[in-house]
Amino acid sequence: MQEGIKILAIETSCDDTTAAVIKDGHKILSNVISSQRETHSLYGGVVPEIASREHLKLLIPVVKKSLEEANVSLEELNAIGVTHGPGLVGPLLVGLSYAKSLSYAKNIPLVPQHHIKSHIYANFLDKSIDENYGVPPEFPLIALVVSGGHTDIIYMKNHNEFEIIGRTVDDAAGEAFDKIARALDLGYPGGPKIDKLAKKGLEGRIEFPKAKLKDPTSPYDFSFSGLKSAVLNYLNRCEMKSETVDKKDVAAGFQKSVIDVLVSNTLEAARDKNVNDVVLAGGVSANSALRDEFKEKAKDLGIKVHSPPLILCTDNAAMVGASAYHSYKENKISTALDLNAVPNLEM
Ligand code: KG4
Ligand code: ZN
Repeated sequence: MQEGIKILAIETSCDDTTAAVIKDGHKILSNVISSQRETHSLYGGVVPEIASREHLKLLIPVVKKSLEEANVSLEELNAIGVTHGPGLVGPLLVGLSYAKSLSYAKNIPLVPQHHIKSHIYANFLDKSIDENYGVPPEFPLIALVVSGGHTDIIYMKNHNEFEIIGRTVDDAAGEAFDKIARALDLGYPGGPKIDKLAKKGLEGRIEFPKAKLKDPTSPYDFSFSGLKSAVLNYLNRCEMKSETVDKKDVAAGFQKSVIDVLVSNTLEAARDKNVNDVVLAGGVSANSALRDEFKEKAKDLGIKVHSPPLILCTDNAAMVGASAYHSYKENKISTALDLNAVPNLEM
């Protein structure tokens, strides 16, 4: 029997069926990810009903594997952390119902988690700490959570103390990556495909607009729908004029526009709030050009930029275990068997 606080975490908010066992909020004993990507790529995006059915099939073996790999029994667990929102309601319900039944049957405290908060905690796992500065991020900090469903700038004074100070007013950045990739026939998910293709392209050859919002009451907000329309219009114009599209230059130009606003708004927020640490999280934080640009620009400002290894950027349960640890320590345990999945859960 191992010492320490051991949490089984379950995350099924979208199309990855995942379970992990985390010790003391940072040590990864196991992190099992079963991706449904290939199934959904046939349809060009996530089909919620199919995702729910796949979770039903995969979840029990995934949880079993995570306990086996960690060499931890159900009896040894201190808590079960589970995502209960935001996300797709069917997929969320599969993970939550299973976590609730395990918690009830085995009398293990249940610690519900917010998906976006969990993404931030990927930066507090040992792997992320080692890969960055050898120490965890320090508070207060600014987090940029950038995924398929969210683009938020969050000011964190401490564990469990969050304030969203910037957000997208329309599309999430990952959504824009996926839609442009679809228009370029690159397949799903689009982010990694554009990331790869853009490396071969010329950033400045096609310039797309950079949405800088002018509202002084929300200086850190983002908008990506104008950029998305500009790229789609460009592609339509090329088609009408029977011009060949250089996909790699389009990918590079589009990606540059997204990255410029993500980096400048986040670093502006960090400067205004006088913080020394910025953490990146969510699927889009796997983008190699985004990571490079952040490090480059932050250097001059004396700001440390933390980013998780690629496997911890996209959806995984290890991050849920890390964030559940802090909720558990603050006794934020749910006893409600009617605890529900909340697709648009606020932070
Ligand atoms: O966090 P995540 O796995 O799921 C959500 O909570 O949405 O993020 C998935 C999103 C997708 O939109 C995907 O295209 C994007 O992250 N993504 C990337 C990269 N890898 C994943 N976007 C840009 N560059 C990447 N390398
Ligand atoms: Zn996510």
